[in-house]
Amino acid sequence: MNQTQTRMDVTLRPASTADLEDLLSISRSCFPDHFRWQSRYLIGRKYWKVVLQSKASQTLVLQDRTGVFAFGVLVLDLMMWESEREQRNGTALTKMFAVLCCPVPAVWTKLLKHGVLRLVDRRQLLRGAGPRSGERPAWAELLAVLPRMHRQGFGAVLMSAFEREAVASQRSVIEAHVDFENTSSRRMCERQGFTLVSSGRRGGCLYRKSLLLCSG
Ligand SMILES: CC(C)(COP(=O)(O)OP(=O)(O)OC[C@H]1O[C@@H](n2cnc3c(N)ncnc32)[C@H](O)[C@@H]1OP(=O)(O)O)[C@@H](O)C(=O)NCCC(=O)NCCS
Repeated sequence: MNQTQTRMDVTLRPASTADLEDLLSISRSCFPDHFRWQSRYLIGRKYWKVVLQSKASQTLVLQDRTGVFAFGVLVLDLMMWESEREQRNGTALTKMFAVLCCPVPAVWTKLLKHGVLRLVDRRQLLRGAGPRSGERPAWAELLAVLPRMHRQGFGAVLMSAFEREAVASQRSVIEAHVDFENTSSRRMCERQGFTLVSSGRRGGCLYRKSLLLCSG
């Protein structure tokens, strides 16, 4: 996609490697209980380095005069995305090390409460989101808006941009996984016309929206 002006001083554009520090800092603010972003060990940086080079996904950012304040990662090729998993997230050993290097108590509480179970849940739902006959799904992987910019419609701006990109890439469906407890994210999906198609046993929700493709 090209750069577009969404509101007076807000620009929507594809992310580049120059945005890496901003993406990391937004991830840290928006996901306070996720070890990938809160660990002192640098798996968050590794994640963004791989994602910004990935041909399976597109990362979009929103920027105003003060800098980048929101991002979204849209996956257009789920099989390639899956094959990049280890590069992106590291091995099981790396992840364990990252958890041990995490000084934030909320991360430990979340992991103890339901971290592993949620992961299993997400995997199962993702498997369900794999290609079905005749469907070419796009996947809304990650979406985050800095808290000071919440509730001004920027999450919806990113979601609409995802839909346009998905249609431009001939994807007929867009899907997203959201934690049941993440009410703002679920409401945003529902307001954007997504439908809840399945709920995992551990609190994960799979949302889907059909997209109208232009023929010819
Ligand atoms: C989920 C998230 C991306 C939503 O971003 P957002 O920019 O606040 O989303 P929107 O503004 O588009 O919509 C959220 C709410 O703001 C409301 N809103 C939109 N424009 C508004 C405006 N001008 N004035 C007041 N409210 C407005 C929407 O109606 C919606 O309200 P509702 O929850 O009562 O239905 C954001 O909360 C976030 O970054 N959360 C942390 C990270 C996360 O959990 N990401 C999702 C999983 S990957």
